Amino acid sequence: MSIISNAQPAPAVRALTGLPADFRFGVATSAYQIEGAVGEDGRTPSIWDTFCRVPGAVSGGENGDTACDHYHRMPQDVDLIASLGVDTYRFSLAWPRVQPHGSGPANQKGLDFYRRLTDRLLDRGITPWITLYHWDLPQELEDAGGWPARDTALRFADYAALAHEALGDRVTHWTTLNEPWCSAMLGYAWGQHAPGRRDFGDAMHAVHHLLLGHGLAARRLREAAGDNPLEVGITLNLGTADPATDSPADQDACRRADGLGTRLYLDPLVHGRYPQDVLADLSARGVEMPVRDGDLESVAAPLDVLGVNFYQGLQFSGTAEDGSTLDEEGQPVTRVVPRGLPTTAMDWEIIPASLTELLLRLERDYAVPTVVTENGAAFHDTADADGRVRDADRTAYLADHLAAVSAARARGADVRGYFAWSLMDNFEWAYGYGKRFGIVRVDYDTQQRTLKDSALWYRDTIALTRGEPRP
Ligand code: FCB
Repeated sequence: MSIISNAQPAPAVRALTGLPADFRFGVATSAYQIEGAVGEDGRTPSIWDTFCRVPGAVSGGENGDTACDHYHRMPQDVDLIASLGVDTYRFSLAWPRVQPHGSGPANQKGLDFYRRLTDRLLDRGITPWITLYHWDLPQELEDAGGWPARDTALRFADYAALAHEALGDRVTHWTTLNEPWCSAMLGYAWGQHAPGRRDFGDAMHAVHHLLLGHGLAARRLREAAGDNPLEVGITLNLGTADPATDSPADQDACRRADGLGTRLYLDPLVHGRYPQDVLADLSARGVEMPVRDGDLESVAAPLDVLGVNFYQGLQFSGTAEDGSTLDEEGQPVTRVVPRGLPTTAMDWEIIPASLTELLLRLERDYAVPTVVTENGAAFHDTADADGRVRDADRTAYLADHLAAVSAARARGADVRGYFAWSLMDNFEWAYGYGKRFGIVRVDYDTQQRTLKDSALWYRDTIALTRGEPRP
C-alpha cells in the first residue's frame, strides 16, 4: 500500500520538546546525486558514471551527468539551505573531483569548488559536515580491484589527508564513509549499485577494506588536525530486525540479518572485533575476512559520532513462502516479511517507533553519541497549479520521526542531531530521477527549486523549537 500524496492534512507546526538547545538540525545531500558537471574542471569518471552506462542498470537509463546542476548553482542552493534555518549541511566530496584517478596530487579546481561551498556555508552561519565517500569511487581504483582489494583502503586514507589539508582549516565535522553496507552488498554482492559485481566473497572483503579505510582515514584526519577541533565519524544504514514469529528459525533469521547488517560493522568499529557468530556463518560459506595484524586496532579508531541513516525497520522469517529453510544456493533463508504498514514510494514501510528502538539499542550496545545523518521519504508528489507542493505525507513522516528521536532522547539515547534526506529531489541511484526525496522540489527541465510544504514545516518547526519567531 502506498500513501497517496497530499491526501491527509499536514501536521501542525509545534516546538519539539525534549531536545537540548544545541541539538543539530540539518539537511543532507551527496555529490553524485546533485552536482552534475561530471566532466568539468578535471573531475574523472567514478564507478557511478560507468555503471549508469550499463544497459538496464539504472531506471530509464538515467545518469548524474547534470543531476541538479548544483555544481553551477551552488551559491543559490546555499541561500536556499540558509532560508530553512538549519544549522548544519551534510554533503559529500566527489573523490574523482578532489583527486582525479584516485591517486596522486589534489585537483585545485575541484577543491576550489568545495572551498567556495564551505566558505559560503560558514558565511551564512551553517556548519559544513563533510562525507568523504558517498559511493563515487574513482573508476581507476575499481579497475585495480575496487573495495575488495586492500590497496583501496590505503588510497582512501591518502585522499582523506588531501581533503583535510585543503579544507581542515574551515571544516570540523568529517564522516569517512556513507553506508559501507550498501557499497559492499549492493555494489559487490547483489550488483544493484556500482560497480555492479555479484560475488558474496568479494563483498565481504569489501566490508573489511571499507572499515579499514575508515580507520586509516580517521587516524590521518586526527594527525592532520593536531590540536584543532575535529569530530570524526562514520555513517551506517541501520534499522531494527524483528522475528516474524517466535519460531527458532525466524529468530535465527533475525540474528543473521542483524549480524550482517549491523554487528558486522559496529562490533569492529566500536569493540575492535568481528562478531563470532557472523564469522562462523561466513566460514560455513567458505568466506574468511582478510584481516591482517593490526587491522582491527585501526578499524576501532575512536569515533566522536556515529551517523545513523534510518529508513525502516524490518521483520524477518527463516522460512521461504514455499516452506523451505534453505535458498537456491543452499544458504539459510533470511526473508523480509512485510508488516502490512503504509509505505513510501520506495515501498519502504513507515515505522517511526523502530527509530526510537534503534537509537536505544545503539546506546545500550555501543554507547557512541549519534546523529541521524539521513531520514526522509520519497512520495509521488507533484506541483499543484499554483506551484505549491502539498506533501502532507512527507511532512507527517518527518514529524513522526522527529518525535521518535525525542522519545529516544527522553529514554536516555545520546542523539545529538537530525538531518533530513534530502535537501532537494535528486538522482536516486538505480531508481534514477523517479523517486523524489527532497523537501525542495526540483523541476529537472528548468532546474527551478520550490520549497515543498514539508520544507516550510521543517523551517517553522526548527524556529519554534529554538524559541525564535516563526519565519
Ligand atoms: C541512502 C543513501 C542516500 C539516498 C537514500 C534514500 O541509502 O545514503 O544517498 O539514496 O538512501
